[in-house]
Amino acid sequence: MIRVSFFIMGFTLLFIACKPGDEKKKDSVSNEDEINNLIKKRYSKFLDYELDSTAFARSYNPKTNTIKKVPSSNWTSGFFAGNFWQIYRLTGDDSFKESAKAWTAFVEREKYNDRTHDMGFKIFCSYGNGLKVEANKAYEDIIVKSAKTLATRFDENIGSIRSWDWNEDVWQFPVIIDNMMNLELLFEATKISGDSTFHKIAERHAVTTLKNHFREDGSTWHVLDYDTISGNVRARVTHQGIHDDSAWARGQAWAINGFTTTYRYTKDKRFLNRAVATANYFINHKNLPEDGIPYWDFDHPDIPNTSRDVSAAAIVASGLTELYQYTKDDTFINYSKKVAESLKSTGYILPEDLDVPFILDHSFGDWSHKVEMDEPIVYGDYYFLELLIRLKALGF
Ligand code: GLY
Repeated sequence: MIRVSFFIMGFTLLFIACKPGDEKKKDSVSNEDEINNLIKKRYSKFLDYELDSTAFARSYNPKTNTIKKVPSSNWTSGFFAGNFWQIYRLTGDDSFKESAKAWTAFVEREKYNDRTHDMGFKIFCSYGNGLKVEANKAYEDIIVKSAKTLATRFDENIGSIRSWDWNEDVWQFPVIIDNMMNLELLFEATKISGDSTFHKIAERHAVTTLKNHFREDGSTWHVLDYDTISGNVRARVTHQGIHDDSAWARGQAWAINGFTTTYRYTKDKRFLNRAVATANYFINHKNLPEDGIPYWDFDHPDIPNTSRDVSAAAIVASGLTELYQYTKDDTFINYSKKVAESLKSTGYILPEDLDVPFILDHSFGDWSHKVEMDEPIVYGDYYFLELLIRLKALGF
């Protein structure tokens, strides 16, 4: 293991805590070269860091002036590697490709980790992005092996992939809506290997989620607990939302993005309709601010005096670039464009002279642990970069 010191450059900075939306569109980076240069400038600070297989950058805490670093087993490790790939795709700068390869290699060990459902986040956001840049047989083999490992968490009787192994005194078989984001890895593993098992498991998981996870109004619960004997739902609760029946913003985002991706691989209209209904719930919600960046929970009693979640907006906006292509519904692409503009504006994008190597401020981490509540977080940047790549591919 490479011994590390992930040193943080002179953070004698003044962290400008602009309130999101305050300066909306007053001062925004609008031209493509300008935004790409700013992104490069911000992330080039990470290029200087020593490689450390146990220290993937995850978030920045302005109060302690520290970067939170996590091992490859953390659900966010793939985003850090993925961001280097995506910046390379946006800018063509080879130094980002070299870092992408190095950090991606550190994620490989996760292909054996059967104790979590987060395989897609870790392996597909790293190796999957690498394959978008160039063909690589070794990367394909890692994706297939990871899919095999993830498949061991599938329960035939319940029809779902188990999310978590902890809290066993309370939950028998917890499945969280976030799990929809792991299906792309399985669909791709079938395409690579020709083994239809992975595709079938992903499709079955999506059907079970479709049946049980959604409310009449189009929103999704966060956690469903299944009975391991009968296969029935035992409870519909939250872990990261403000209360069990609230609409946790990032959960809605995972559902919209995940069902859109699932439609891409299956062409099953039920999945398309699900993505559309939840997208409409999200973008038409009375509590969604004008700039398109939601509060971290749509049902928070303190709105507007609570934090936004940039990551939720970016996940939805990126997903809607794809949903727009299937539906030709302009409201979807208009939301994507609006979010891209908002995030490029003062208050969200970190200023050029600030010595913090992330791109966006104001993502919301985890209420249940009271951590990363309103900070730059690696997955906010990841889906923002994906959004920019996708908008560019559509000619916007
Ligand atoms: N899957 C964890 C999260 O969205 O916070």
